Amino acid sequence: MALLPILHYPDARLHKKAKPVAVVDDRIRRIVRDMAETMYAAPGIGLAATQVDIHERIVVIDVSENNDDLLVLINPVITWKSEETQVYEEGCLSVPGIYDEVKRAARIKVEATNEQGERYEFDAEGILAVCVQHELDHLEGKVFVEYLSPLKQSRIKTKLRKLEKV
Ligand code: NI
Repeated sequence: MALLPILHYPDARLHKKAKPVAVVDDRIRRIVRDMAETMYAAPGIGLAATQVDIHERIVVIDVSENNDDLLVLINPVITWKSEETQVYEEGCLSVPGIYDEVKRAARIKVEATNEQGERYEFDAEGILAVCVQHELDHLEGKVFVEYLSPLKQSRIKTKLRKLEKV
């Protein structure tokens, strides 16, 4: 197992679109294990492969209180979104120290493949729905700050660039 370095916004590699996983093999399972370890160590509740510079459609999520309910989403797809929305204050391991409100669908249906290569489905609401939508955005090369105003985005870029130079 290994901790993977996390890319920080505004790194251009965060804007690459991830490719589908063709086959869930030991290489993919190793990436999943390393991503889970990296997420728990951070600590965070979700991590997309894009954030560790792996541009394949893999996400790990654990929104449980005791960090004992790991969700592995390979080639995830949101198959349904409610018209009802919710506003949630989001953060991101790639945007350290920045939290802001984003409006997203309140409830979603998700289809994904697990680390055994089996397709499964689930419904999500609340923080899990937020997290799935946030992580799937990463696979499209989108970071949550892109939902904020241009002024806020440029302030965040300036702040994070300063931090990286320290
Ligand atoms: Ni994120």
